[in-house]
Amino acid sequence: MTILEATGLRVVRGERTLLRDVDLSVAAGEVLGVLGPSGAGKSTLFRAITGETRADSGVVRLAGEDVTREPLWRRAQLGVGYVPQGPSVLWELTVRENLETFQRITGAPLTPEPSAAAVGLAARLGVRAGELSAGERRRLELARAICKRPKVLVCDEPFAGVDPTGAAHLGGLLADLARDGVAVVLADHHVAEALAVCTRALLLLDGAVEVDATPDEFREHPVVQGRYLGTWTRSIPPPLV
Ligand SMILES: Nc1ncnc2c1ncn2[C@@H]1O[C@H](COP(=O)(O)OP(=O)(O)O)[C@@H](O)[C@H]1O
Ligand SMILES: [Mg+2]
Repeated sequence: MTILEATGLRVVRGERTLLRDVDLSVAAGEVLGVLGPSGAGKSTLFRAITGETRADSGVVRLAGEDVTREPLWRRAQLGVGYVPQGPSVLWELTVRENLETFQRITGAPLTPEPSAAAVGLAARLGVRAGELSAGERRRLELARAICKRPKVLVCDEPFAGVDPTGAAHLGGLLADLARDGVAVVLADHHVAEALAVCTRALLLLDGAVEVDATPDEFREHPVVQGRYLGTWTRSIPPPLV
């Protein structure tokens, strides 16, 4: 079942067209990777989907309902979980208070424990968010996105600032959520970690979807190799030993 469907999303800012009529759909149980170099428009796409920004044209549907005109908080209530790219915890509040604040906004029961436990923060509920490590803060942002069970979870670089063990754990958590019926949309520069959990991957270049493929096809795709991964691997010097 298609949970999130965006059609013809276009975002223009000043002289620049940041999104060029992007179509995207993700079904329950799918993990869709949106990959591409910095500046490709991944975050702009996610903002348009979640309601953080308004698209200039196009339609966003959540479980068949047109939410194009709904603001961020309303989409959150309707089941759009969102981990934005930049830091977004409430620094002075504890982990518990961060989660409860979001649960109040979305009208969910005040039960922060399960989502804190899911991201490994059960023992940190009483700690101020400002005192958490960068990786723990990222996990808190994910806990916030799932503390009211979302229909779709939109994660913008969830592995950023998280160590490799933590990234593998987060990847496993996203896969578990998908198995549980959540539709997941994920952007990240940790291509290996992202593709390991994706069921499908898009390559976004200059605001347009250039490739839509399975993870295996994606890795080998000539456009991906030529304009994204290939150029990127070539820029890494060979190991010294
Ligand atoms: N509000 C804005 N006004 C003008 N340009 C913007 C705005 N937001 C993002 N951009 C530009 O749009 C391009 C895409 O940005 P972004 O969506 O953050 O890409 P990505 O997440 O793929 O790195 C970048 O060149 C960025 O500088
Ligand atoms: Mg981004």
